[in-house]
Amino acid sequence: MNLEKQFICTAKGETQGQSIWQAPSNIALVKYWGKFGDQYPKNASLSFTLTHSHTTTRVEFSPKKATEKVSYDFRFEGASAPQFHPKLDAFFARILPYVPLLAGHHLQIASKNSFPHSSGIASSASAMAALALCIMDIEAAVNPSISPAYFFQKASFLARLGSGSAARSVAGPLVYWGEHSDYACSSNLFGLPLDEVHPDFKTYQDTILLVDRGHKKVSSTLGHQLMEGHPFATARFEQAQQNMARLKGVINTGALDDFVDLVETEALSLHAMMLSSSPNFILMKPHTLSIIEAIRDFRNTTKIPLCFTLDAGANVHLLYPAQAKDKVAPFIASALVPFCENGAYIDDCVGQGAKKM
Ligand code: DP6
Repeated sequence: MNLEKQFICTAKGETQGQSIWQAPSNIALVKYWGKFGDQYPKNASLSFTLTHSHTTTRVEFSPKKATEKVSYDFRFEGASAPQFHPKLDAFFARILPYVPLLAGHHLQIASKNSFPHSSGIASSASAMAALALCIMDIEAAVNPSISPAYFFQKASFLARLGSGSAARSVAGPLVYWGEHSDYACSSNLFGLPLDEVHPDFKTYQDTILLVDRGHKKVSSTLGHQLMEGHPFATARFEQAQQNMARLKGVINTGALDDFVDLVETEALSLHAMMLSSSPNFILMKPHTLSIIEAIRDFRNTTKIPLCFTLDAGANVHLLYPAQAKDKVAPFIASALVPFCENGAYIDDCVGQGAKKM
């Protein structure tokens, strides 16, 4: 059976109105790095949904004569933003077969981020999730019979077609995406919220240390491509599947020492893939490594389960339980802020997922 079929909207009709959604960023604990086909992941991944790092998107929609391509205007933080058009064009081309009624509407899209654009924080996950949710409002306006479960699952499905990790930015507090036999109903098509989560992980903290606010020199999309033919690809995808299996138990029981070990291994494995691809590339900066060393010293001395993870960049995500906040905050201020560009960092924490505004 073609599983995608369930997401084809056959309802026809016109509608007019507006929709506003705020969708959070997410930080992967087990990383998605390598894809195939129509944005399917080579391995399953699991992430914390964040709270304060988010994108808010408003879409005003009105009927027009049907065209082959989706017709839209796009403004980012109050100004026209043609640099985003190629990504948006690709997104709309991919989703049109699933929401054909979009061809008969014009969309006026306005988007803004809660975090500075030049922070080095990837915004494609939150941006694509917020936009996908607005599109689902348009579908729901034409076809009010769709269930809330279908609405959110299809929003994640559409978001994935914009950016893989965006599939994990609809729900919270932890979301898995990609087929894995230990995860109920897991799918390459959309993300699902994890059910059995130890209370410690529902309030986990993520302080994002902004080491390098410059633009990424290597896009995630290229990084994924470099996993094709990568000498360690098979081992990496197996490792990720095994880490997913282990992490499920850890998240359920709250075994923090295992959490630290697993999450740091995943972050370093991701960067090991970059270091050993052809061409190779290094996204960590000297300050990234200084921060990692300082975290490990602090952990050894205090026994506080503070750990780090990285995404495709130089910034460091510091992960720790909410109960440790009082002890971690002065350490961040004295030992880590000096390694941040202009002393900048973002205090974030695990969140519940996207919100309709
Ligand atoms: C390192 O989702 O940005 O953040 O699907 O090409 O848009 P595309 O890639 P993207 O890749 C995210 C990579 C990562 C790991 C992760 O979030 O799992």
